[in-house]
Amino acid sequence: MTICSFQPPVRTLMGPGPADVHPRVLSALARPTIGHLDPAFVSMMDELKTLLRSAFRTDNALTMPVSAPGSAGMETCFLNLVEPGDKVIVCVNGVFGGRMQDNVIRAGGEPICVQDPWGRAVDPNKLEDALKAHPDARIVAFVQAETSTGAGSDTATLVDMAHRHDCLTIVDVVTALGGSPVEVDAWGIDAVYAGSQKCLSCTPGLAPISLNERALAKVRARSTPVRSWFQDLNLVLGYWNGDGQAGGKRTYHHTAPVNALYGLHEALLMLAEEGVEQAWQRHRRHHLALRAGLEAMGLELVVPEAERLPQLNAVSVPGGIDDAAVRAQLLSQYNLELGAGLGPLAGKIWRIGLMGYSSRPENILLCVGALGSVLNEQGLAVDTGAALNRVQQALAS
Ligand SMILES: Cc1ncc(COP(=O)(O)O)c(C=O)c1O
Repeated sequence: MTICSFQPPVRTLMGPGPADVHPRVLSALARPTIGHLDPAFVSMMDELKTLLRSAFRTDNALTMPVSAPGSAGMETCFLNLVEPGDKVIVCVNGVFGGRMQDNVIRAGGEPICVQDPWGRAVDPNKLEDALKAHPDARIVAFVQAETSTGAGSDTATLVDMAHRHDCLTIVDVVTALGGSPVEVDAWGIDAVYAGSQKCLSCTPGLAPISLNERALAKVRARSTPVRSWFQDLNLVLGYWNGDGQAGGKRTYHHTAPVNALYGLHEALLMLAEEGVEQAWQRHRRHHLALRAGLEAMGLELVVPEAERLPQLNAVSVPGGIDDAAVRAQLLSQYNLELGAGLGPLAGKIWRIGLMGYSSRPENILLCVGALGSVLNEQGLAVDTGAALNRVQQALAS
């Protein structure tokens, strides 16, 4: 066997993530590697934190990327904030809420699960009932944008409710950040984590996080050490912020993923250039155009309109159509990746992502045109021409 350099096929990524990475980010990644304590790198880190704060809409001093994927952002929040014995109310309406529950157990806490149907937002009334039933709960955790279903929850209301019952909040904005409103300070979120590979148009592997002073006070007051050395924020901050070090000087904690951070810096710079609110509007506009095309083909969106995420569109697979065969044909003939359903929705839905650099008019036209052709080939009569017209009209309006 001869092994050569790996040349990936060029795909259009319209699944649940990773999304397409912007060429500016790819070229930033290829810049020369420098030392992670080099003064030039340290000033890039400072800019990166400033850019992250404006993406999260926060002034939190502790705002930084964890050097690992979104799941590590999740673990960092739970391992630092949950102490053995802490009761944590976890709202579960899909895969990632379920993972939060698992994280609470692994951190030694006691999860109280509030279950909502897959494909629906978290129900604030159920949270209120759980808070009343468990007045000793310390933390409320939920996913703002549930990537497994495309349902978006009302973070402002849920956080406010948690605070009225003296709970801190941990919110997953992995799929939300950059694609739909995330207002860390205005909504009072205490701890939040995201991922680089969704609406930020960066490569996978980094997890921006932000904690406010209330959350940090709980971390500092722990009576037991954080169970992960790598993710102990008390230690990581010596590197990212110079906390606890003489003269605020940064010290070695781990070797930062230098080039990956160049990529995130570029991605966040692009978001700032576009404007965070303009990026939210772009995602919404493109969602409406995709929806117009899908509905013109007779396809149905799973999530009720008021709870739909613009960046992740869950579509019911029509009866008699083989979900996997359609996705395989889209990939082989059109280099187009759509996502499959997970858990109870496996085989029943497609997940069409319009995230970050993937959220472009040409991708919507490609997706609607290719899906229409493949469905016709699979025996479902759909009017692809009419659907493409509807997309164009929606984009023009
Ligand atoms: C809502 C949500 N949370 C957490 C994660 C985990 O992120 P990662 O796959 O980068 O570890 C994902 C990934 O898709 C996600 O969509």
